[in-house]
Amino acid sequence: MNILCIGAGYVGGPTMAMIALKCPEVKVTVVDINAARIAAWQSDSLPIYEPGLQEVVRACLGRNLFFSTDVDAAIAAADMIFVSVNTPTKTFGQGAGRAADLQYWEKTARQILANSKTDKIVVEKSTLPVRTAAAMQRILDSGGGDVKFEVLSNPEFLAEGTAIKDLQNPDRVLIGGHDTDAGRRAVAALVDVYAHWVPRERILTSNVWSSELSKLAANAFLAQRVSSINALSALCEATEADVCEVSRAIGMDSRIGAKFLNASVGFGGSCFKKDILNLVYLCETYGLTEVAAYWQQVVSMNDYQQDRFVRNMLSRMFNTVSGKRIALFGFAFKKDTGDTRESPAIRIARQLVEERAQVVISDPKALANAKVDLRDLGDRVQYESDPYAAAEGAHAIALMTEWDCYATLDYQRIYDRMMKPASFFDGRNRLDHAALYQIGFNVYGIGKTALSHL
Ligand code: UDX
Ligand code: UDX
Repeated sequence: MNILCIGAGYVGGPTMAMIALKCPEVKVTVVDINAARIAAWQSDSLPIYEPGLQEVVRACLGRNLFFSTDVDAAIAAADMIFVSVNTPTKTFGQGAGRAADLQYWEKTARQILANSKTDKIVVEKSTLPVRTAAAMQRILDSGGGDVKFEVLSNPEFLAEGTAIKDLQNPDRVLIGGHDTDAGRRAVAALVDVYAHWVPRERILTSNVWSSELSKLAANAFLAQRVSSINALSALCEATEADVCEVSRAIGMDSRIGAKFLNASVGFGGSCFKKDILNLVYLCETYGLTEVAAYWQQVVSMNDYQQDRFVRNMLSRMFNTVSGKRIALFGFAFKKDTGDTRESPAIRIARQLVEERAQVVISDPKALANAKVDLRDLGDRVQYESDPYAAAEGAHAIALMTEWDCYATLDYQRIYDRMMKPASFFDGRNRLDHAALYQIGFNVYGIGKTALSHL
């Protein structure tokens, strides 16, 4: 069998590498219009950082895993085509800022149609509005020829930083297909691919629309948990309750569960905001105003949490950060990734620059992306890979990303070289606050009472 994936991004690349690893008899090809990205996949420095990915790619590259920019030829040769091109939020016209921009998606559908001389199973890997498969099917059927296309939905639930682990051992694989003979055959073919390594009972099948909606729903529920605990973090700060204690107490209720209850400076990543806005837009389209407003609040709370963080910094630093050096520890939207898409650090850095602070950004993997995100700010922002150098002469450190490396720094050494009073704003509640306070820092966690010498 020949499997093709169109789109060699964070989703397409790792997913196809895992299929190639687990299915040695299948030839897997990944194509992308971005030639630099394809070249990077074939080199020793992959286009994305993901623990364990390099090893998987190295094991399969040139054996049964191939990367190419020749999209047309690859389509012609494929039996099953995963589509994993990006579906960003629309920036223009109707639904701007909320609806999914499906232009790459439709273009890809037409390209598949134009280059297919044999029947294909087309698998939606990208996250899409519910009922997109119907549009795709209509485009594919518009050729009027003998070639048959069957569209499946197979959303990806991997999280960045743990992509290889998630792919290797998924909680579940979801495959949506049509309830027709051809639909059932296509579903069975895809189930067989995953069954190479995923236990059958964890491979769920459903109708196409449920599958499409489940992806949006999963991300909305996860983000909602973060917004819920972040909402409570504000109340904790006002009442001397401790959000970590609250998380632990509610998380031990097996009905609630302990995961995704870490209060933070806010959620980021390419999916949560985009998918919720997409869900909101979809609800509005169907006239479900109250449902739309309910989910919109998850995003609004996330914006509020970031703005609140900066407001708190300002008030703790005598209502001015003008001219003060502030070191941001971490810029990625979470640890173990170089990805900065929708990272709360972007909004926070911009607001601090607006307040005329001298912002210095440090991150073990994300500095290159940070420079792109903030390029319009020019030299109003500095970038420094060494956290000790970043904090030198600073009035404050703000932890943006929970990288493990920040927990093991020599904070006495850092404190000694900072301006006084030295403040530490822990946007992830990752560090030992009592120890930092002991050294001399004023420590401000999320949803915690301030530890202040002032
Ligand atoms: C993307 C979407 O953002 C996400 O919603 C979806 O679930 C999966 O696809 P990701 O893999 O993180 O996620 O996106 P990205 O890293 O931007 O990769 C998409 C790739 O598709 C890019 O490399 C881009 O060059 C490529 N692409 C885009 C094409 O090959 N052809 C196109 O027409 C458009
Ligand atoms: C998410 C989904 O988890 C994944 O299933 C989907 O396929 C893509 O979107 P990802 O964006 O890679 O994955 O990261 P995730 O681990 O879900 O974290 C998202 C954001 O929430 C991060 O900024 C993270 O720091 C934040 N978060 C997460 C919290 O602030 N608190 C938590 O308790 C958990």
